[in-house]
Amino acid sequence: MDAYSSIMSRRSVRAFKAEMPPMDLVMKVVDAGRYAPSGMNTQKWHFTVVMNKEKIKEIGSYVLSSDKSICYDAPVFIMVSYEADDFFAKEDTSCALTNMMQAANALGLGSVWINAINRCDEKARAMQDFSVPSGYRVYGSLALGYPEGEVRPRSVKPSNETVSIIR
Ligand SMILES: Cc1cc2nc3c(=O)[nH]c(=O)nc-3n(C[C@H](O)[C@H](O)[C@H](O)COP(=O)(O)O)c2cc1C
Repeated sequence: MDAYSSIMSRRSVRAFKAEMPPMDLVMKVVDAGRYAPSGMNTQKWHFTVVMNKEKIKEIGSYVLSSDKSICYDAPVFIMVSYEADDFFAKEDTSCALTNMMQAANALGLGSVWINAINRCDEKARAMQDFSVPSGYRVYGSLALGYPEGEVRPRSVKPSNETVSIIR
């Protein structure tokens, strides 16, 4: 799939097969994040790839009051942390996550951005157990896996009113 087709066809996936995608496919997605642009090319991000159901549940327990999965039971959960309060933290994290979502789609995987763990500051020390470096904060994360069922194309097209052409 070419890059433009991937951008136009990607949807958020919220139902996943239990099957674990092969490691090389997961790492291709992570590499797409690592190759994203970053402000002044500082790349002060860290990628934590969790491929263990119990550990994903543990992360969920920090922010969810119920026993529900933090990531729609996806087999893979990727947290992108960044040096806390860095000037480019949100922007660089967004570039990395967008690249990963596009790569996932192009490689036949599904993904959705998960925001809940961003509010996890009070559990910062627990996050260090998940290789989030000291002084870093999770700014965004991704549920990843094989989509369960059909991924439907967008039914509502983005509004043209959000574009102004100045000639
Ligand atoms: C910054 C950001 C945060 C998001 N957080 C969540 C989330 O926590 N849970 C979720 O199910 N979807 C989340 N989404 C996915 C959006 O709901 C989704 O992208 C939007 O509805 C458009 O649908 P599409 O991705 O299928 O085009 C998030 C997306 C972005 C960009």
